[in-house]
Amino acid sequence: MLDVGGGPGYFREAFGRAGARYVSVDSDLGELSARGRPEPGTVMGSGMALPIRDEAVDVCYSSNVLEHVPDPWAMAEEMLRVTRPGGVVFLSFTVWLSPWGGHETAPWHYLGGEAAARRYASRHGHDPKNRYGTSLFPVSVSDALLWARHTPNGELLEAFPRYHPWWARGVVRVPGLRELATWNLAVVLRRR
Ligand SMILES: C[S@@+](CC[C@H](N)C(=O)[O-])C[C@H]1O[C@@H](n2cnc3c(N)ncnc32)[C@H](O)[C@@H]1O
Repeated sequence: MLDVGGGPGYFREAFGRAGARYVSVDSDLGELSARGRPEPGTVMGSGMALPIRDEAVDVCYSSNVLEHVPDPWAMAEEMLRVTRPGGVVFLSFTVWLSPWGGHETAPWHYLGGEAAARRYASRHGHDPKNRYGTSLFPVSVSDALLWARHTPNGELLEAFPRYHPWWARGVVRVPGLRELATWNLAVVLRRR
């Protein structure tokens, strides 16, 4: 399986315990080496142009990365490309209009991402790590569902709030409310 934006491999052990051969890709050398020397099977590259051949993995996974790339749907399509037909893509991201959408600039992102970043910089004396327009982008539930329902390369299996209990899963079906209340959307597709 491939973990896109996996940093130093936070999920390596869990996938290994489940019997997977784990490979991760990340674009940032600092993140890749956050736990010391990167493990074998760690690749430096962008999720938007994965340095992986077509149909190479059974599972392509990405946790909380989509909102950090300027073209999230290019990354999502790349994840489908490297997955073999019948394989599974899982991706999750923090929804922009959720209370944590602005990351460390929240809740001021409700006044706009630029304004929130400026406010953070004036308070802390430096830019936020997740800088709107550079390393943080507004991704919505609606756009994710639109992509997942219409991509010719995958079939949407599930879309649900990643961290909510089962009884709150239906929130993703309510336009408007879902942008505020989903917090983190998980989308699962089968590669066609
Ligand atoms: C919030 S962290 C998530 C780390 C891990 N997936 C998790 O859920 O704990 C975002 C990660 O995405 C990586 N990232 C950002 N832009 C990327 C890109 N274009 N391609 C691959 N990884 C990227 C960052 O370097 C960072 O490791």
